[in-house]
Amino acid sequence: MISLPGEVLTTTGAAQAATVASSKIAEALRSAILLRGAASIALSGGNTPRGAYAQLARESGIEWAKVNVLWVDERSAPPTDDRSNYRWAKATLLDAVPAAASRAVRMEAERPDAQQAALEYEQALRARVPPDAKGVPAFDVMVLGVGDDGHTASLFPGEPTVDLQDRWVATVEARGGHEARLTLTVPVIQHARQVLVLAVGVQKRDALRRVSEERGDVHATPARIIRGCLGKVFWIVDADAVGVLAGASGSTPLA
Ligand code: 6PG
Repeated sequence: MISLPGEVLTTTGAAQAATVASSKIAEALRSAILLRGAASIALSGGNTPRGAYAQLARESGIEWAKVNVLWVDERSAPPTDDRSNYRWAKATLLDAVPAAASRAVRMEAERPDAQQAALEYEQALRARVPPDAKGVPAFDVMVLGVGDDGHTASLFPGEPTVDLQDRWVATVEARGGHEARLTLTVPVIQHARQVLVLAVGVQKRDALRRVSEERGDVHATPARIIRGCLGKVFWIVDADAVGVLAGASGSTPLA
């Protein structure tokens, strides 16, 4: 049995995945605020997490004025553009929770001086996300997706970004059908205290299989970097996406 590194929560599909993810995020934020007086979350884009963000806006007991909302990655597109990860997080979460919007730090990936925008986002990480013992900003909770091609964040197959260890935010050139982007790098992703990986649908199965294999190449399947995450990893999936995979620390069918 090949298994995914972490706990696999197998839902009945996108709707239940959204509910489970929203609940896990809310729990992590409440705990962080209790423990440290503040919390930080990094949001991925794509389609899968939108339902979770909309439900998160309705979760109770979160002191949003103490939550720092940042992004895992962003496309080079205006914040009002349908391609923008910020646009969808705003529509589903920030517009419904003004306190969250007030502490959100948008990744300005559309700026012509992308390198400067990346450096400025690193400053935002320093200011808003307390470092762990290794000095790396450690998000309390990070939402990741897995692309059908095996990417995660904006770490794409065949591109060098997955190798970067000397910075926390990187520019990504437009190539292979994706636009230019900014992305958190592997160190920041792997130091998150809790990671929720959302992947539903049969189109994710091959990528998840490649992540689950004991041996593989992160350059071919960058989502394999999740295997190196130091915090707790939850794979919030459905049966179509995981097929016969199970979690290293167990698999919980939530059907
Ligand atoms: C992005 C995302 C990206 C996403 C995957 C999965 O900007 O595209 O951050 O990494 O998580 O592409 O997207 P879906 O959830 O739409 O399958």
